[in-house]
Amino acid sequence: MTPYMDDSDELLPGFDARAYVVPPQGRPVGTKLSPSSRSASDPTLWALEPATAAKHRLYAAYLDAWFPILLQSPWNEKVTYVDAFAGPGEYLDGEDGSPVFAIRNLLNHSARDSMNLTRDRVTLVFLEAREDRYLHLMDRLTSEFGSLDELPINVVVEEGRAERDLMPLLNAHRAWGSPILAVFDSWGNVSVPWTDMRRIALNPSSEIVVTFGPNWFSRFEGPKPDDLDAVFGGREFWSRSDPDATANERWENWLLDYKNAVIRAGFTYPLAFEALAKTGIPLYMVFGTRHPSGVKAFKRAKWVVDGDEGMRFSDPRTTAARKSAETLWQPSLFDAFGDPNKPDDELLGFVMLLLQQKPATVDEIAEFLELDTPQWMASHARLAIRYLMDEGVILRENSGGRLTGSSLLRLAAP
Ligand SMILES: C[S@@+](CC[C@H](N)C(=O)[O-])C[C@H]1O[C@@H](n2cnc3c(N)ncnc32)[C@H](O)[C@@H]1O
Repeated sequence: MTPYMDDSDELLPGFDARAYVVPPQGRPVGTKLSPSSRSASDPTLWALEPATAAKHRLYAAYLDAWFPILLQSPWNEKVTYVDAFAGPGEYLDGEDGSPVFAIRNLLNHSARDSMNLTRDRVTLVFLEAREDRYLHLMDRLTSEFGSLDELPINVVVEEGRAERDLMPLLNAHRAWGSPILAVFDSWGNVSVPWTDMRRIALNPSSEIVVTFGPNWFSRFEGPKPDDLDAVFGGREFWSRSDPDATANERWENWLLDYKNAVIRAGFTYPLAFEALAKTGIPLYMVFGTRHPSGVKAFKRAKWVVDGDEGMRFSDPRTTAARKSAETLWQPSLFDAFGDPNKPDDELLGFVMLLLQQKPATVDEIAEFLELDTPQWMASHARLAIRYLMDEGVILRENSGGRLTGSSLLRLAAP
């Protein structure tokens, strides 16, 4: 089990992590700290799961786009990146934790010269609740980058709890009024309070990423309903799991409630992903933005990691999309295994799902894919449409001439 999945992850009274860790100075890069853990089952460092490695590639790819887009814009005086559940900065076999590659990639960015990196313009905030992990993070960062005070960007590392300490930190660093990208990588722990999410959503050009482990909501609904109230913005905004539902259905319902909370907070586009790893535990992720350009950039980053090492990000609605398409079409298109030209089932399912509701133009389908599905981009629309037309599954009204953006499509009668 991943150590931080313990929901009793409170700081132990009287625990002195300093007794277990090497002090920040003097540790050569790459040297492991002793097993500086509170207990064997909840160590300071843990092994890097494949799903986490893929998530890191996604963060890195998105940050590579986010920093230059925001910092090259004349409208933004400054930007703030937040990693509210920063971790110890290192995994068991020495792999980088998220704060390390975020700083390193920014300092080595190919567009660095055009970003005008200064301590006033760029702030990176890292919060970690566990003292031993906070100390390890500080140690790892200073080993890697030297004194943080001398970096050309403002790196703030604090021991503290995201739900309590993040807002005061953002106030102290004058983050409001300029773009904030906040990552809440809590996974198995208390997530971001809805009121904080709302403040970020209402701030200009700001975005969030929230991750969850499997069954996160179900584990909290019985023993800690108040925590869920804080996360959803009130008891009326979430409903208890249906005991007769399958685990997958329960998850989809929770995710729907959560996406609604993200919309209510003020984000126009909540994208939900499920990172399916060949091995290890899956990871769920919600990205919230108010800008179509944010959706595009995040998806582009996602395609960078998709398919890598047996990892695939997928939309939790996939099952629904496929199921409904399969019910409509028997024998199913989805049985067409071995056809190398067949686009992805999920892509086809989404196009059919939209056309089940009403006829739509090529442009409307493209926009739906781009803004309403986490996986697919506008550029995928024609591929799917052509395939479904060739199969006789969808028809074009007023056929003839080239397929254009305004060509109207509808489902063929089954
Ligand atoms: C999923 S791990 C973070 C991994 C890290 N972001 C990375 O990708 O390398 C979650 C971290 O959050 C810390 N944590 C747990 N509860 C917290 C809280 N309320 N506020 C801040 N950090 C917390 C845990 O100690 C753990 O190190």
